[in-house]
Amino acid sequence: MVNVEASEITGRAQIRAQIEKLYREGMVHGDDGFSQSLYPTSVTPGRGKFLGDLVRRIKPAATIEVGMGWGLSTLHMLEAMLENGGVRQPHIIMDPYQAKNYHNGARRVLREAGVDGLVEFHQEPSEIFLPKLVEQGRRFDFAFIDGDHRFDGAFVDLVFIHKLLKPGGVMAVDDTELDAVHLACQFAITNWGYTFEAGHSDREASPGRHRHRGEQPRPQVGAYRKPLVEGERNQLHFNSFFDDFSPYIRLNRLASNQLAHEGLVALREGDREAARRSFREAIRQDPTHAKNLFRYIRTYLPPGLARAFTGRSKRG
Ligand SMILES: C[S@@+](CC[C@H](N)C(=O)[O-])C[C@H]1O[C@@H](n2cnc3c(N)ncnc32)[C@H](O)[C@@H]1O
Repeated sequence: MVNVEASEITGRAQIRAQIEKLYREGMVHGDDGFSQSLYPTSVTPGRGKFLGDLVRRIKPAATIEVGMGWGLSTLHMLEAMLENGGVRQPHIIMDPYQAKNYHNGARRVLREAGVDGLVEFHQEPSEIFLPKLVEQGRRFDFAFIDGDHRFDGAFVDLVFIHKLLKPGGVMAVDDTELDAVHLACQFAITNWGYTFEAGHSDREASPGRHRHRGEQPRPQVGAYRKPLVEGERNQLHFNSFFDDFSPYIRLNRLASNQLAHEGLVALREGDREAARRSFREAIRQDPTHAKNLFRYIRTYLPPGLARAFTGRSKRG
C-alpha cells in the first residue's frame, strides 16, 4: 500500500475539506497564479458523489482515470478509497493538457490536500498511454473515463479500458448523454456484453434528444460492468449499436423533403435514374413518409403507365 496509515488518518478529512472549499469558491488556481472557474470542466457535487459511492460499493484495489481536469473526480475517488481502508496501489491518471491548459491546477489541488503521493500522473494522451499499460499486463478493477469526448476519442478509450479491466470490473463514463460517448458505451453493451450498473443525472436529461434504449432518458454518468466471462466473438459478426438512433430518422424529414423535391425535379426533366436515387435516399432519411415510396416505384414504370397509375397528366 502507498503510505496508507498516514494518508488515511489525515487524508480523508483533508480531501473533504478541499472538495468543499473548491465547490464553495468555484475557482481553481494553477501553480503560476492562473485562476479559472471549476465549471464546466469539473464533475458536479452530484456526479462526484455518484463516483465516490460507486468506489465505496465496489471497493476496487486498482483504479485508473482518463482526463484529470481540475482533479475533482480524483478527489472523490481517493476519498472513497481511503474510506474503504486505503489506496492499495497508486491511482493512475493521464492527461496531456494538465500543464498546458490547466496550469497544473489539479496537481496543485491534490498537493494541497496532501494526497498527491496516492496518484501516479502521466502527461500523455490516453490513446498513447493506455496501450502501454496493456503491453505491461496491467489490470484494473475500476476506471473513470472523462477525457476526449469525441466519438473516436471515447471509443478508443473504451477499447483499451476494456482490455485493462479485470473480468467483472466496472468502468464509469462521464457525459454519457452526449451522442458520441453514448454510442461508444452502447458498443460495449452490444458487442462486449457489458451490463449497465448504475447511472446519475444532475437534472432530468432533455427528453427529446437524449434517449436511452427503450426511450429512457440517458444518464449523464453511466457505470458499466465487464462480463465475468467474455463471449466468443465471431470475426464477421457485428451487433448494431445504432438502435437508439431510430427515433432520429424522423428528425431527418427536412433532408427527406429536400431529396424528394430533387427527385420530382429530376422526374420532370425526364432523368428517372437521378429521381430514383433521390427518392431512395429520401426514404432512407424518413421511412415514415410513404408518398416517397410510391414516387420511387413510379420511376420503374413506363411513363404512360405511371401517369395512369398516379392519375397525373404531366411528364414522368
Ligand atoms: C472534463 S475534463 C475532466 C474533468 C475531471 N473529471 C474533473 O472532475 O475535474 C476532461 C479532461 O480530459 C483531458 N483530455 C482530453 N483529451 C485527452 C486524451 N486524449 N487523453 C487524456 N486526457 C484527455 C482534458 O485535458 C481534460 O483535462
